[in-house]
Amino acid sequence: MSEIGRSPVRKEYPRFHDLSPSQRLLCTFVLLTLGLGYLFAMILIWETHVGLDGKPGLSPKDIMIAYRGDISTRLELALKGPMADKIDESSRARIFHWIEEGGQEAAYQSAIKPILEERCVFCHNESNPHIPNLTTFDGVKKTAVKSTGVSIGTLVRVSHIHLFGLTFIFGLTGAIFSLTYVKIWIKRVLITTPFIAIYLDIGSWWITKVSEPFAYVVIIGGALMGVSFAAQFFISLRHMWFYRVKDDRASEYY
Ligand code: HEC
Repeated sequence: MSEIGRSPVRKEYPRFHDLSPSQRLLCTFVLLTLGLGYLFAMILIWETHVGLDGKPGLSPKDIMIAYRGDISTRLELALKGPMADKIDESSRARIFHWIEEGGQEAAYQSAIKPILEERCVFCHNESNPHIPNLTTFDGVKKTAVKSTGVSIGTLVRVSHIHLFGLTFIFGLTGAIFSLTYVKIWIKRVLITTPFIAIYLDIGSWWITKVSEPFAYVVIIGGALMGVSFAAQFFISLRHMWFYRVKDDRASEYY
């Protein structure tokens, strides 16, 4: 019987041994499925960012180009990335040289137009309005102006999706992880870190648009998030299924 006005009896915080096998199964599949989702997120990041700087692998420079742009023109980015297999090395170098020299019309007529006519206008002509028209000087010139990186509209959309999505992910993994037997300070750090990482990561996307060194913060934020996800994932699964606690010693783990 409860008595009004008296502080309630201190309730032990729950740990994995308080869960039924079905609850543990649920936690396990939530973790496994989130882990799979994380894997696909990594593949997506790789696919959309890698090679923008013309080199294999994901580098801070790729991140800077993706968010800030203005290092290369759209034409250069396309020729290093998605259109790289449509052209040979020396023609590509000639186009890059032409852009560096300021993209003059005379040089275009003599050196660039023949390359594009041979390799690009088959697809890039006025009949397809969704891709740049490379049959005229004006059309080519439009792709040879500096890229401005991700637009504000895209950043708003992606920030909103990530803030909601990541909160659900780390809310769930954190709630499961809170049932483990790790030292209490480790638990607090690992539950807090992903949220700090979210602020770092998303905040720095915006700042990278105006200040390049923040590309490193994007990477640090992403890495912190990955490390805390991995730690919560593996420790939770291990403690859930492979950790025996004797009842009389259980209090030691709280
Ligand atoms: C087989 C058809 C095809 C050929 C050949 C082709 N492209 Fe493309 N190009 C596309 C398509 C489709 C897109 C849009 C989808 C994408 O970005 O991958 C595109 C996109 C582009 C873009 C825009 C990228 C952006 O910023 O959105 C540029 C610039 C470009 N191509 C340049 C070239 C150049 C230069 C060549 C010749 C060396 C070339 N393309 C050859 C099909 C082609």
